[in-house]
Amino acid sequence: MASVSPCVVISDDEQGYDLDLFCIPKHYADDLDKVYIPHGLIMDRTERLAREIMKDMGGHHIVALCVLKGGYKFFADLLDYIKTLNRNNDRSIPMTVDFIRLKSYCNDQSTGEIKVIGGDDLSSLTGKDIIDTGKTMKTLLELLKQYNPKMVKVASLLVKRTPRSVGYRPDFVGFEVPDKFVVGYALDYNEYFRDLNHICVISETGKEKYKA
Ligand code: HPA
Ligand code: MG
Repeated sequence: MASVSPCVVISDDEQGYDLDLFCIPKHYADDLDKVYIPHGLIMDRTERLAREIMKDMGGHHIVALCVLKGGYKFFADLLDYIKTLNRNNDRSIPMTVDFIRLKSYCNDQSTGEIKVIGGDDLSSLTGKDIIDTGKTMKTLLELLKQYNPKMVKVASLLVKRTPRSVGYRPDFVGFEVPDKFVVGYALDYNEYFRDLNHICVISETGKEKYKA
């Protein structure tokens, strides 16, 4: 039986933190409801994921594939932690990087249509930002199959508990979150909020202001 990857579970009644308790860019002051996952917690959890990934990879060369744009912060921070482990251990894993761009969201809704742009040498994978319905990830895994990779592993910072899920579960998960639309740490709402450190819940004002 496949074991479910353990992760930090954020419950449905989690209220998050008042914006005033953290540093938020002034231009987003009215556009957010709460800080949901503070940046420091994201970093601490990512550091541990790096360790788990290293342990799991054995001596395999890895091609770390970043799913843009939403995955770029998680990818960069995860790789920084892996690099730290690589230079401080007797055992290290050679690593190359690649990037792919996927787009499936308009406003806070999945369009159902997934556009793939870029990527060349796709033989292993790490660093996806969010698994919501899982449809995008399933499509990407189908695409990767064509390259006959020895092994494909998926790391996702967030997995959403949603009835719309197709049941996909990544190999490494940072946080399991309720079915809310979240932004920040490279996650966007119509391209906005990527320039926000914390993962936050968008306000109604924010949804209206940045509507496509
Ligand atoms: N936030 C940003 N992008 C997303 C989300 C989300 O909650 N779900 C799927 N793509
Ligand atoms: Mg997006």
